[in-house]
Amino acid sequence: GYRHAAHALIYCKMAPSNEKMKHAVMMQLRFDGTLGFPGGFVDGGENLENGLNRELYEEIGLTQANHFTETDYFGSWYHEHIRLMDHFYVKKLTENDFVKLENRTLECHDWGGETMGIIRVPLQKSSKNPNFYSLSQFFQHNFIGNAKHQLIQVLVEKNILPAVDVQDASVNLIN
Ligand code: GTP
Ligand code: MN
Ligand code: MN
Ligand code: MN
Ligand code: MN
Ligand code: MN
Repeated sequence: GYRHAAHALIYCKMAPSNEKMKHAVMMQLRFDGTLGFPGGFVDGGENLENGLNRELYEEIGLTQANHFTETDYFGSWYHEHIRLMDHFYVKKLTENDFVKLENRTLECHDWGGETMGIIRVPLQKSSKNPNFYSLSQFFQHNFIGNAKHQLIQVLVEKNILPAVDVQDASVNLIN
């Protein structure tokens, strides 16, 4: 007896003219004060993708055009202490669709109740930020479950950032 949940990392590549931000990665501030990914519990009668798409509609206004399918599946983690199997999906959108979702969030059913803020992971690296100060700071927040680990794994596996930079920011925490 355990429950299933499904959460998603949604990201986009920014236009080349955007020199500061090469990618945008979406996370949220949750009602419980931690950072995590949009998504939620899969309800009885739903398959994983149905549950995920419903939760993403409630939390960020995802529409049919951007629905998740099996091909977006990334991996699953079992959390024994809460008897939860969490399934994780990753999807790259166009910048236009990504921004549309960000904007729609404020009108969603769960805004202000479950979703306290939609955020972009600070991924900027610049001459002023040579040691990835911003990402290092970000990693020092509190994350739900293994969301921080999920983020790190996707940043590396989807080549959003060089592995050495992710490693630096997560291991050599810069205060
Ligand atoms: P309710 O409708 O209020 O029940 O919330 P929900 O269905 O949106 O569920 P929620 O997003 O809180 O996810 C269900 C459970 O999954 C949580 O209680 C956490 O334990 C876990 N969880 C939430 N977000 C994440 C995440 O980003 N990563 C992982 N690994 N687990 C998460
Ligand atoms: Mn929800
Ligand atoms: Mn949720
Ligand atoms: Mn729910
Ligand atoms: Mn809910
Ligand atoms: Mn609820």
